[in-house]
Amino acid sequence: RAQSGGSSSGLTFTPVRLDDTDRIIVPPGYKSEILIRWGDPLFLEPATGFDIDAQTAEKQARQFGYNCDYLGFIPLAPNRALLIANHEYTNPELMFRGYDDKNPTKEQVDVELQAHGVSVVHIERHPTRGWRYTLGAWHNRRITGTTPMRFTGPAAGHPWMRTSEDPSGYTVLGTLNNCAAGITPWGTVMTCEENFHQYFANNDKVADKEKQAVHKRYGFPGGASERKWERYHKRFDLAQEPNEGFRFGWVVEFDPLDPGSLPRKHTALGRFKHEATSTVIAKDGRAVVYMGDDERFEYVYRFVSDGRYDPNNREANMRLMESGTLFVAKFNDDGTGRWLPLVAGQGPLTAANGFPTQAEVCINTRRAADLVGATRMDRPEDIEVHPQSGVVYAVMTNNSQRGTSGKPGVDAANPRPQNRHGHIIEIIPDGDHAAATFRWRFLMICGDPAKDKGTYFAGFDQSLVSPISSPDNITFDRRGNLWISTDGQTSSFKKNDGVYAVPVSGPERGYNRQFLSAVPGAECASLIFSDNDDTLFVSIQHPAEGTTLENASSRFPDGKEPRPAVIFIRKEDGGTIGS
Ligand code: FEO
Ligand code: CA
Ligand code: CA
Ligand code: CA
Repeated sequence: RAQSGGSSSGLTFTPVRLDDTDRIIVPPGYKSEILIRWGDPLFLEPATGFDIDAQTAEKQARQFGYNCDYLGFIPLAPNRALLIANHEYTNPELMFRGYDDKNPTKEQVDVELQAHGVSVVHIERHPTRGWRYTLGAWHNRRITGTTPMRFTGPAAGHPWMRTSEDPSGYTVLGTLNNCAAGITPWGTVMTCEENFHQYFANNDKVADKEKQAVHKRYGFPGGASERKWERYHKRFDLAQEPNEGFRFGWVVEFDPLDPGSLPRKHTALGRFKHEATSTVIAKDGRAVVYMGDDERFEYVYRFVSDGRYDPNNREANMRLMESGTLFVAKFNDDGTGRWLPLVAGQGPLTAANGFPTQAEVCINTRRAADLVGATRMDRPEDIEVHPQSGVVYAVMTNNSQRGTSGKPGVDAANPRPQNRHGHIIEIIPDGDHAAATFRWRFLMICGDPAKDKGTYFAGFDQSLVSPISSPDNITFDRRGNLWISTDGQTSSFKKNDGVYAVPVSGPERGYNRQFLSAVPGAECASLIFSDNDDTLFVSIQHPAEGTTLENASSRFPDGKEPRPAVIFIRKEDGGTIGS
């Protein structure tokens, strides 16, 4: 047996088990601590501390937002880094005492707008106390549902992008439903707008039937929204502002090193319920971005820039996402696959079919992907490229409707009817990330092997693996092991979500083991290692979801009100996570 205590993967921790108690559980020899919670102040003068009964929009704009999802770690110096955290959505029933979902107040709606977006938080590692965030640090930044941003690419300025607040079609306020994201090789953040449809109302009253049909394809409600923001902000009422809905559903790039920089929504990367941006450089220097559209029967995408990455010209790299070619994946039954270009004028993407220019392809990307015959997947979530092998890992979280009445049946890449537990696909590029073709195979078909038929753990002995359901976000440790956080075990297993580690090569390939168990109602939304792998950061999103503040099912993290939070896990002996 090889290195690190007899394990080729270096993973020697004692696995934890599925659990349903209201505490974070990690293996023996590890400890978990709180880094930052919803409402913690980011700025001084004044430092707006958290009081759940005295919350205002003004305070929220200066505090860590709600429902932390994606986590990024950007090292600045030894023991100093920036933590990037997305704030995907809000749970007003857990944020406001006595919340009335039929009659939210304007103040509540405005707090929610400020609780969305992204936080950039300076963090420091102390020799003994672990990581602390730095109140008032120069880099600290909040991007919210009202932060000004601008559009780039083929759809910028298009007539469908113009509104009464922005007759140019080049600027927009805010980013919403930021789920997964990624950090580019040039050090910017590319964050993804996922379920943006939920903020808009009254598609049934949109006069232009063509626009209405596009909105319907993206799931906008016909009548009132659940959140009722349209009562106080007319831009969320499609009857009054039919185009505002086209201004969400994009990838947003911003520079975390410049808190004053203007974020940009890149229309060349297409419009869908974006999940993940994983950016790598092709052999010829073009930037390649892998992306998913997280809804049942939607697609996996890839963008290839026109321009080439220049390691010595960060300014030029920051324009790479402004032009390029968008592709959508076709997974063939024989284990091969092809990236189908989505280019106006090519194949079925004609003016007669609604695609006179590339702008329409960018705005109505889902329809373009339908027409070229891409493979309809089981909810693509995170996609990451293995840092050593270059294999692309694509997570299909679950799809309970696969093969049910009136819905698409199984195919080779989505092989399980009513796929409740999800699966992970390995995409192996044919020589290069910019190549037209690839091969693919499964890493895992998830579930509890003791109970579910058809689970698969890359051929590893299934009696030894930890049960896992609804994989969502993934990352790699420095040894190349895959780490997975889950979103959905509270319904599929009736147990808390968790974090898992699985080797993807060597004799332990497929040996999936549970590392962490979260708290009731929460998903483990994202996870990221520190630069030396001695710390794992995990976002605990929506603790107590499904209950209300008055009868909350979780009191994480402080034994009081439930508050979404980022935690960090270290070994008590300071060693590498997983050992
Ligand atoms: Fe927000 Fe697709 O998870
Ligand atoms: Ca996700
Ligand atoms: Ca990830
Ligand atoms: Ca999810």
